[in-house]
Amino acid sequence: MSRVVIIGSGIAGLFAALKLEKAGHEVIIITKQRPEDSSTNWAQGGIAGILDKTDGKGMEEHIADTLSSGDGLCNEEIVRCVVEEAGDRIRDLLAAGVEFEKEGEDFHYVQEGGHTSRRILHAKDATGAEIERALNQAVSDRVNISMRPHTLGVDLIQRSHGNPEQGVKGIWCLSLDNGEMEAVAADAILIATGGCGQLWERTTNPSVATGDGLAMAVRAGAASKDMAFFQFHPTALMADNKKPFLITEALRGEGGILLDNSGLEKYRNGDERPEKYSFTLDFSAQGSLATRDVVARGCDQKMKISGADNVWLVTDHLDSAKLHDHFPTIESRLNELGLSLGRDALPVAPAAHYMVGGLEVDIEGRVLMPNGKAMPGLYAIGEVACTGMHGANRLASNSLLEAVVFANKASEHFIANSIQNLEQVPGWRAEGMQTLVEHAPLVRDLETLRKTMTDDVGIVRSFDRLERARRMLNLLYSEVDLIWRKSIPTRELVELRNLVLVATHITEDALARTENRGLHWNKDLI
Ligand code: SIN
Repeated sequence: MSRVVIIGSGIAGLFAALKLEKAGHEVIIITKQRPEDSSTNWAQGGIAGILDKTDGKGMEEHIADTLSSGDGLCNEEIVRCVVEEAGDRIRDLLAAGVEFEKEGEDFHYVQEGGHTSRRILHAKDATGAEIERALNQAVSDRVNISMRPHTLGVDLIQRSHGNPEQGVKGIWCLSLDNGEMEAVAADAILIATGGCGQLWERTTNPSVATGDGLAMAVRAGAASKDMAFFQFHPTALMADNKKPFLITEALRGEGGILLDNSGLEKYRNGDERPEKYSFTLDFSAQGSLATRDVVARGCDQKMKISGADNVWLVTDHLDSAKLHDHFPTIESRLNELGLSLGRDALPVAPAAHYMVGGLEVDIEGRVLMPNGKAMPGLYAIGEVACTGMHGANRLASNSLLEAVVFANKASEHFIANSIQNLEQVPGWRAEGMQTLVEHAPLVRDLETLRKTMTDDVGIVRSFDRLERARRMLNLLYSEVDLIWRKSIPTRELVELRNLVLVATHITEDALARTENRGLHWNKDLI
């Protein structure tokens, strides 16, 4: 029996845990908050996929939509492989107890931006929560999986210090219950820590999305890829600015239409359907259902031109009973804010949503080093990994699919190649380190970081602003590093250190790009 440590308890981590345990391995899942606190849990839309393996046409169309959304930068081999495996992996989810919405005997499918047909399975508007419920339940029934909540991975332990080629043999973790550092030995580590939406002031991501796994792997010698491609979701509710709330794209799949201030006025005074007045038609013939990069940029441009804080999502032309049945989570949040689906125009604006780039991995999910070789014992799956599936812009609801396919691949690779090689791991060096009493400077630095990323590394960029961000990030890096070197780690310190590093990778990748593609839009390159 080998021991695998999985960092993160979203769909990718939980799926891999079940697979590895079934094959006879010991699995330890470390996760920062409660087991269900992950981006998966917040996913509303669904999981895209063709279940019927004989539906070649359906698969070709899913492949074509993915490639088109990726704006020429997808790895077609990976896209094919993920789309073709969708049926098997979705059946695995069903076998693990996930319940998707049914319509008679068949599943009910929805559509989102960039999809040319309905091919997204869902559990009303809380698909991720249903997946988390079922997989966490399945994990808790397995004797050889231990879940360690409130545990933050801090750094990977290399087999030979300073030599990534020898791979990793464990991880240093911080218990958020008692503040103690612990070293955990492993034959392999699977990083499944999700993304880094907390880098921006407005995000649809949970508080745990601070780029921890990406940062620790990079410090251990891993390569990052395509970091400039950070996806902003066009429709986060603006009614409560402190807590942007995702309004799923599936609502636009059901006919919801985006309007700017003048479009809303014309719609209210006119007698045509809202589509006619949508600014999104200025950007794509697909209108409100164009791919996310295009729609988010359109919203951003309209808001900047008019000075408005938001655009509007209207649904009053749709069947409100159907809306209430299909979108109960959204309806309940809206009601808390005195709004209602099908009645009110909803104020929405783009918010940071998904890290399309990430740790560069091969087709088995093995983490690559800058020299293109795999780092022994290290895998990355889910949002933290850059597999080539999403290219320059992820197609909606392809992320849960990619996560399960690569969780399966990485697990299978480990199962086929596993060796028992648990080594002694060194304890955390705490000598001479001080307890960090004052966190105020970290709080200020985090505010500066978020402001910098929001103002200078957002949806529309320029070389001047990116260079300004680079200077700010260099300063923040040295400030945080100074504190890091002399302090016993705390959650705030570990997360800020990680966020600054990830922000640097995003900014540097953006600065290096010489063309606009998908989510990267530099106005100096137009
Ligand atoms: C949504 O429901 O709009 C988000 C789905 C996704 O990010 O794929």
